[in-house]
Amino acid sequence: MNITFCCADTRPEPWLEGLRAALPGATVSEWQVGAPQADHAVVWSPPQQFLDEQPGLKGLFNIGAGVDALLRLRLPPGVEVVRLDDAGMSVQMAEYVCHAVIRHFREFDGYEADMARGRWSFRKPRMRAEFPVGVMGLGVLGQRVARALRHFEFPVHGWSRTPKAVADVVCHAGAQGLDEFLASCRVLVNLLPLTPDTRDILNRRTLSRLQPGGYVINVARGAHLVDDDLLALLDSGHLAGATLDVFRTEPLPKEHVFWQHPKITLTPHTSARTLREESIAQIAGKIRALERGEPIAGVVDRVRGY
Ligand SMILES: NC(=O)c1ccc[n+]([C@@H]2O[C@H](COP(=O)([O-])OP(=O)(O)OC[C@H]3O[C@@H](n4cnc5c(N)ncnc54)[C@H](OP(=O)(O)O)[C@@H]3O)[C@@H](O)[C@H]2O)c1
Repeated sequence: MNITFCCADTRPEPWLEGLRAALPGATVSEWQVGAPQADHAVVWSPPQQFLDEQPGLKGLFNIGAGVDALLRLRLPPGVEVVRLDDAGMSVQMAEYVCHAVIRHFREFDGYEADMARGRWSFRKPRMRAEFPVGVMGLGVLGQRVARALRHFEFPVHGWSRTPKAVADVVCHAGAQGLDEFLASCRVLVNLLPLTPDTRDILNRRTLSRLQPGGYVINVARGAHLVDDDLLALLDSGHLAGATLDVFRTEPLPKEHVFWQHPKITLTPHTSARTLREESIAQIAGKIRALERGEPIAGVVDRVRGY
């Protein structure tokens, strides 16, 4: 069995070694122009030429959860596109989102600024019931985040394409459920995949429906958010702030207004990183299952886009 590795911005050696150790008997090599046909590929942002030269692939394993960039390419017709299915990302996402929600709710930025100026300040405690959190996307990451938020006793709402049941989470579904979902939330967490249906979904119309003093946490993709609409709602005071981990252009361009905005907290696409060992173990297990003709989790529906 031949495995080829073609991942942009990734040091190949540790991945190649890890895949060789996990799949003894397989030939694992880094892709080069004109390389022989492989059975499976491990990829991140591969060039179109790679896919054009590998029409016989059975499995195309993306080393991330989001496949939006991959699906924009012309793919071999019969290949199974497989995304990472948690692989250590959901706990990181839960940490990141709970940290952002709690920092905002408990006004830790304000206390830190006061202490830095030598002020021993008092702020009236806020009521958790007045900070319902909405999680857009109740998939692998969204459900883990929703459960983690419930641990801190925030009221939690969730929104997905098809109806879901998650313990202690008020679940809404579909386009017809979106407005009710938004109106139920003061803090909005975006964990949707980027598809034609979800591009630009965080816009003036949707963000205006959040409760006054709303707060936006975008940890999915930059193209979900209409930057100017967020800025307008922050400036009007309808929104109190935002934590953004993902951007339309990454790295975020030096001149972008987000860098200096006093109500926006930024991180460099780091909310849930791909963990190499977990990912290799998961991918190797799925390659073995596919070779045995067994079904696997995390296969992408190319029409749906996730
Ligand atoms: N910032 C980072 O570091 C980072 C890291 C990893 C992932 N991500 C992003 O997080 C995204 C989510 O990952 P995941 O593993 O949780 O994905 P997932 O398991 O595929 O879950 C996607 C969820 O979104 C819902 N959804 C999709 N289209 C929708 C629509 N049109 N309307 C309403 N709901 C819709 C799905 O609804 P159904 O349940 O009904 O199908 C599902 O609940 C990824 O696609 C990626 O973009 C970011």
